[in-house]
Amino acid sequence: MRHVLTIADIPAIDIHDIIRIAKQRNGAYPPLLAGKSVGMIFEKPSNRTRLSFEVGIHRMGGQAVYIQGSDVQIGDREPVSHVSRVMSRYFDAIVYRTTSHSRLKEFAQYSAIPVINGLSNVAHPCQAIADALTIHDCFDGFESVYMVYIGDGNNVCRSLMAIATACGFKMAVVCPKAYQPEWVPPGVVVTDTIDSVIHNATVLYTDVWTSMGSEDEQGDRARVFSSYQVNESVMRRAQKGAIFLHCLPANMGQEVTEAVFESPASKVFDQAENRMHAQNAILEWVMKG
Ligand code: CP
Ligand code: NVA
Repeated sequence: MRHVLTIADIPAIDIHDIIRIAKQRNGAYPPLLAGKSVGMIFEKPSNRTRLSFEVGIHRMGGQAVYIQGSDVQIGDREPVSHVSRVMSRYFDAIVYRTTSHSRLKEFAQYSAIPVINGLSNVAHPCQAIADALTIHDCFDGFESVYMVYIGDGNNVCRSLMAIATACGFKMAVVCPKAYQPEWVPPGVVVTDTIDSVIHNATVLYTDVWTSMGSEDEQGDRARVFSSYQVNESVMRRAQKGAIFLHCLPANMGQEVTEAVFESPASKVFDQAENRMHAQNAILEWVMKG
């Protein structure tokens, strides 16, 4: 059974394969999901994840069924283990966006079908694989890639560190001390000063300072992160030809300025498109299990 709860669930060699297949398909998908249904449970809002999965599943000949978390109320109206086993009888795979990574793990433990993490408080593996695809498209490989991630040590940051290790590109995380990730893979640099690493950057990445579910911390975070903005002065100090990435949604004037977001260096909409190409290759991978 192949679940994708974090990047660590996919052997590095298979991640390379997923990226290769996503590129090779080039948007023309074989009908590998014909006659199959994918349940998509969302306990948090979504634009890209929901839409790219729904359209991508349709293009592979399958049916996507959107399930609002508040309808099923997993773990509340019914135990996680009951919902998971019921859904295993209807669906061929599950995409699950949850407020609780431990609930996602419990759901997967009882599931007879593959479970894909569509974002949890801990990880966002589909985002990181799509980002690796975007980086590969821009640099024709990973050799010259040095990602400088400026921002919160959050779900996206954790999955990016894991994908950097799997794909073999260099990475530094620039984050205020109190918000740095609790665990960092060997080789990834963590610092609280932009100046110490920015000159290496061929990829600059940022995410929101306050993730979904932490809205009560917004005021404190805005203060602490105010000097961690990706702006034109930061971009100028990066390597020539450096690109800007953001998983979106983005807050203009907070973690990134509009000038950087709208600049030719910004590949954020290619990134958004690549969600679908990467996820369809991930669906191929889980269905082979
Ligand atoms: N990047 C991302 O996951 O976007 P959504 O929250 O809109 O799905
Ligand atoms: N870190 C953000 C990512 C949104 C795609 C969040 O969890 O809200």
